[in-house]
Amino acid sequence: MKITVVGAGNMGAAFVKQLTRAGHQVSVTARDGAKAAQVAAANPGAAAVPTAGAATGADAVVLATGYGDAVDALKSLGGLQGKVVIDITNPLTADYMGLTLGQSTSAAEEIAKAVPGAEVVKAFNTVFAQVLAEGADFGEGKKVTVFYASDSERAKQTASALAESMGFKTVDAGGLKNSRYLEPLAGLNIYLGYGAGLGTSIAPTWISKA
Ligand SMILES: NC(=O)c1ccc[n+]([C@@H]2O[C@H](COP(=O)([O-])OP(=O)(O)OC[C@H]3O[C@@H](n4cnc5c(N)ncnc54)[C@H](OP(=O)(O)O)[C@@H]3O)[C@@H](O)[C@H]2O)c1
Repeated sequence: MKITVVGAGNMGAAFVKQLTRAGHQVSVTARDGAKAAQVAAANPGAAAVPTAGAATGADAVVLATGYGDAVDALKSLGGLQGKVVIDITNPLTADYMGLTLGQSTSAAEEIAKAVPGAEVVKAFNTVFAQVLAEGADFGEGKKVTVFYASDSERAKQTASALAESMGFKTVDAGGLKNSRYLEPLAGLNIYLGYGAGLGTSIAPTWISKA
């Protein structure tokens, strides 16, 4: 697939790495063009592109900015009508130990409201950047799970196909409204990783009896 990654930080760089390895055609854009260029240079096949028009021709946009920058970042791309937007953001407080919104809405729903033409899917928000960068295989048959939630079947299929192409297990978590569950799940993951000291080589999953 042709993917545009917005943001060249921890998650953006890890996406560019794993998506190019999985054989996708990857463009990366960032507020600081030099950072995007650096990430692209480290991943043969990836290209750094200017922000305006960065989503043109893309099958999906991976939104890898902080939640506070997300809407401006998306709007600066232009051309989002009918575009699949994979929202990985978590609306974190400044100390990362809480969420700034929830229960009656979610970051994903607020982003979807702000860019009404786009087909937004929440996904990857429970996957630490370190886990994404190092890969989905935890050994002994254990694979990291990507939960996805959207009101668009096409967006769900795109997110799950991308996740599986990078080696992740996937769980359909229902409509976009269920981002209200996925964002606190990421909060728990952050607490366990940083607050409780388990480190960032951890990931939530779901199991069922055969
Ligand atoms: N880190 C994790 O383990 C993790 C896990 C799951 C989900 N997430 C979520 O993923 C998102 C990214 O996290 P991160 O750790 O990668 O953050 P980060 O390292 O701070 O990277 C964010 C990137 O977004 C860029 N950006 C900001 N505004 C932009 C704009 N208008 N246009 C283009 N690029 C823009 C920033 O550019 P500048 O450098 O110029 O500011 C930076 O390169 C967050 O919402 C976070 O909650 C993170």
